Amino acid sequence: MVDIQKAAIIGCGFVGSTIAYSLMQKGIFSELVLIDADHKKAEGEAMDISHGLPFSHAMDIYAGEYEDIKDAAVIIITAGANQKPGETRLDLVQKNARIMKSIIGEIKKADCEGILLIVSNPVDVLTHVALKESGYSPKRVIGSGTVLDTARLKYLLSEKLKVDSRNIHAFIIGEHGDSELAVWSCANIYGIDIQQFGKLRGCENFQNEMDEIYRAVRDSAYEIIERKGATYYGIGMAAARIAEAIVRDSHTVAPVSVLLNGEYGLSDLCLSIPTIIGRDGAEQVLEIEFNAEENEQLKKSAQELKQVLTSCE
Ligand SMILES: NC(=O)c1ccc[n+]([C@@H]2O[C@H](COP(=O)([O-])OP(=O)(O)OC[C@H]3O[C@@H](n4cnc5c(N)ncnc54)[C@H](O)[C@@H]3O)[C@@H](O)[C@H]2O)c1
Repeated sequence: MVDIQKAAIIGCGFVGSTIAYSLMQKGIFSELVLIDADHKKAEGEAMDISHGLPFSHAMDIYAGEYEDIKDAAVIIITAGANQKPGETRLDLVQKNARIMKSIIGEIKKADCEGILLIVSNPVDVLTHVALKESGYSPKRVIGSGTVLDTARLKYLLSEKLKVDSRNIHAFIIGEHGDSELAVWSCANIYGIDIQQFGKLRGCENFQNEMDEIYRAVRDSAYEIIERKGATYYGIGMAAARIAEAIVRDSHTVAPVSVLLNGEYGLSDLCLSIPTIIGRDGAEQVLEIEFNAEENEQLKKSAQELKQVLTSCE
């Protein structure tokens, strides 16, 4: 039986510990288990993060073992190597696929019933590996996908247009990586078409600015990694938001990485598409009418991912 107030994080490096910190501040769980190959590190993170509890919400955060996560409602996997400067997410594939397979083996042994949220990169490939290895329903295995990239898009648009990023509805789909695309045909600000809003804010040729913003989003991770070696705050908030949608059963729309089963003419791979997220995980993958160019780009993104998938299976 799943305890809806319990979560687990496997891999407590920069990303895992930042997600733990975000979850602690959100106050949506009463128990959080941290697992890492380096148990001492998990213990240290649990101690450090717990010292913030007097400023947030009562919660039990501890370093544990797989037997402790049997009843966790959400299991977040961030274990694996991160990108080194100049390395693409796809370069990480062989190394992290091996780690993912061994973790899924442990999760299966523990007889878990919760939702798996995959964050380790390359996230689309590893979500597929986790799905195949676990044999779980595709609803139960989701990747954080382009939820982070979408947040980056909203932030950069908000900076350019000088508007609250929460008024922006725009999203990135496809691979969480170099072949991702912005779906401009669906983008709006407070319901106002994005080009029209650009004009209202004094940007005469906003299309050029949009192209530049897309490139900045796509290359964000490289830029950050070159400067500080890793990215973790944005993904910390993004993963906590996905976990919240599951626990609160809020039917939130977010571009998570999910198994495609004929949607958009694509199948047998995971990539990011706006999906309804609730207590059961990925409730519905939305099949939206994109324009012809976007459909073409999505297909290309899928082809690139398919090539990597065949190389690691
Ligand atoms: N999806 C996203 O948007 C996104 C964003 C940023 C980073 N990432 C990815 O998250 C992953 C983690 O990044 P990081 O910066 O935290 O790396 P990190 O090296 O700081 O942490 C990785 C942790 O995983 C642990 N680990 C390794 N093998 C393990 C195993 N078999 N079982 C349990 N723990 C194990 C390591 O001990 C380490 O603590 C990377 O793959 C990175 O590319 C994803």
